[in-house]
Amino acid sequence: MELKEMIYHRKSFRSYDSNQTEINTLRKIEDFIKNAKRLYPQEKLSWEIIGPEKIKCILPWRAPHNIAIYAERNTKALVNLGFVFQQVDLYMQSIGLGTCWLGMGKIANTAGEEFTDHSGMKCVMMIAFGSSEEAYRSDIAQFNRKSLAEISDTEDTRLECARLAPSAVNSQPWYFIHDGKVIHTYCMDRFFRKQVLGDMNKMDVGISLAHIYLENEESFNYFTAEDAPEQKGYLYIGSFEI
Ligand SMILES: Cc1cc2nc3c(=O)[nH]c(=O)nc-3n(C[C@H](O)[C@H](O)[C@H](O)COP(=O)(O)O)c2cc1C
Repeated sequence: MELKEMIYHRKSFRSYDSNQTEINTLRKIEDFIKNAKRLYPQEKLSWEIIGPEKIKCILPWRAPHNIAIYAERNTKALVNLGFVFQQVDLYMQSIGLGTCWLGMGKIANTAGEEFTDHSGMKCVMMIAFGSSEEAYRSDIAQFNRKSLAEISDTEDTRLECARLAPSAVNSQPWYFIHDGKVIHTYCMDRFFRKQVLGDMNKMDVGISLAHIYLENEESFNYFTAEDAPEQKGYLYIGSFEI
């Protein structure tokens, strides 16, 4: 299945079998990560694939593999992380694997210390993956999401792909405002005082932008608008034309 079709069938997997993913497939995933489109190419991003034995985590389930993702904690870096790794997430599901973004209950090594990469950048997210007996979604009715009217100033069906995006605790923090051909993108700031959830909400907005990019690969043009209107209770993230 193409990545843009996977948007309508993907889900979070929370049970895995113990089969190890083949080395060849792991290499393909690493290649895909290297080549995935960046929203902010200047933002640093690094990752590694690690086994469950390296992670201390309160969740009751484990996957055979995890991508540990390292980034700085500024808005652009976090939006970029969501944008890049949602392409990866859809890619892994498109080749038959189960995946789940993993931001809670996390993210320490077995000594209880935060993971850092070789340059000292912290692990701010993981994605669990592996083979699973569970099925993908067969119907959009199986998504539990806000309506188009709740996430946008006009009910623009081109934003259906963004509406269906996954988000931390299904918080769906994205909001879109139309201005002629331009669509401005915002992030709800409800959780910003709680650093971890606030950070994840910025990744969530990057995730929803990845869905818009994949649905409009040829025409997607993303930029920072100087004249984006303020929206109370929201942080302006960026603008695009499709
Ligand atoms: C940034 C982010 C962090 C998440 N963290 C967790 C987590 O720690 N544990 C978990 O079980 N699910 C986690 N999820 C999965 C969400 O709960 C899930 O995407 C959301 O409830 C929507 O369900 P769906 O992915 O099946 O469509 C996370 C999702 C995102 C995008």
